[in-house]
Amino acid sequence: MSDDGGTWVGQRFEVTVGPVAHGGHCVARHEGRVVFVRHALPGERVVVAVTEDRHPGYCRADAVEVLDASPDRVERPCPAAGPGRCGGCDWQHVDPAAQRRLKADVVTEQFARLAGMDVALDVEELPGGPLRWRSRARFAVDRSGRPGLRPHRSRDVVVLEDCPITVEPAVQAVLGRNWDGAGAVDVAVDSVGGVTTTVLDRRGHARSTRVARPTGAEATGSRAERKAWHRDWQVEGTGFWQVHPAAADALVGAVAGFLGVRPGERVLDLYAGAGLFGGSLAGGVGAGGQVVCVEADAGACAAAADNLADLPQAEVWQGDVDAEGLTGLLAELDGPPDVVVLDPPRSGAGRGVSAVLAGCGARAVAYVACDPASLARDVAVFAEAGWRLTGLRAYDAFPMTAHVECVALLEPGQPVASPERS
Ligand SMILES: C[S@@+](CC[C@H](N)C(=O)[O-])C[C@H]1O[C@@H](n2cnc3c(N)ncnc32)[C@H](O)[C@@H]1O
Repeated sequence: MSDDGGTWVGQRFEVTVGPVAHGGHCVARHEGRVVFVRHALPGERVVVAVTEDRHPGYCRADAVEVLDASPDRVERPCPAAGPGRCGGCDWQHVDPAAQRRLKADVVTEQFARLAGMDVALDVEELPGGPLRWRSRARFAVDRSGRPGLRPHRSRDVVVLEDCPITVEPAVQAVLGRNWDGAGAVDVAVDSVGGVTTTVLDRRGHARSTRVARPTGAEATGSRAERKAWHRDWQVEGTGFWQVHPAAADALVGAVAGFLGVRPGERVLDLYAGAGLFGGSLAGGVGAGGQVVCVEADAGACAAAADNLADLPQAEVWQGDVDAEGLTGLLAELDGPPDVVVLDPPRSGAGRGVSAVLAGCGARAVAYVACDPASLARDVAVFAEAGWRLTGLRAYDAFPMTAHVECVALLEPGQPVASPERS
């Protein structure tokens, strides 16, 4: 809302687009106000149409006409993308290499602003190209039962026949069909071509799950199969697994490389899901080491327990990772963890958990994050406790979108207060 209380929604004006910002837009200014512009690129001269104006300091707008295009601008591969249309992707109009540079700029800016740290990094490309990588998706369903995706910051549904970033079997399983009465459909395609679809009601509750195996044999409520780090993993239905087929291997590689676990060490894997990181590091600590995976979701814990059944040094604890729960869990271990890997949801681990980890006696922490803002905030908490950011890698695990996956290595800057080791 502007100073005079009037709304700019619907207004059109020219701006010169400034730097990229977190969230899939760039920053511009008009009459002293910040304008977050989607569908534009830094340096471009565009005409914007204001789409939202609720805050005194800023409004949101779409670039609806490009007067002076960036050399990084390309033809959108998806016909459903663009201003006012499908909101699933942010950077369809951007050359993929330039998308990675934008993401690197966002990570750098978030660390500078939220952690007061200068970081320099390249966002690494994953194999497979920018399209047909999404192996897990949620599609919205309109009142007529037609599936699609929502426009940016809208409850409408853009009906889709295809989604070019999603793998073909998932598209075929959901789009172009009628899902009368459903609110949404989750779909996941596993490493052996099994397709799991979960129908959700309008309140987001799962109503039914169906697994179609490539042979045609079908089962209900069964698990998906994934492959990563030379192992097979079972995942509960459409439960959490990295969306990009190459991401799990890349992230485990980064975590393993950063932590360099040694025989006999104790590993704590927090927010463990189906046990990906703990299970992958278990070989490094050997039979004389210990791996404790902590996860809140009962189905994920059951899958993790099965996934780690051949690793006697690994165990799964079901519980909430919060400051109190983590403190209790650390007290129950036979000694402090040597290393910790944590992979929290988008909101991050938060101040409480980060502060407990900074005092837990570990020699290193690998923090896997899908939101650089949450990561930077939590890294700042470690830094307050004397820890140093000694490694940072980032992966383009979500091409065409503004999302980026980071792995940070944190090490205590001072001798760790040494609780007794068993
Ligand atoms: C980003 S996923 C990571 C899963 C796993 N590390 C992987 O890579 O497959 C986050 C996981 O944290 C779990 N989770 C969310 N909040 C939690 C909490 N407070 N305590 C424990 N687990 C939590 C979710 O159920 C989910 O499995």
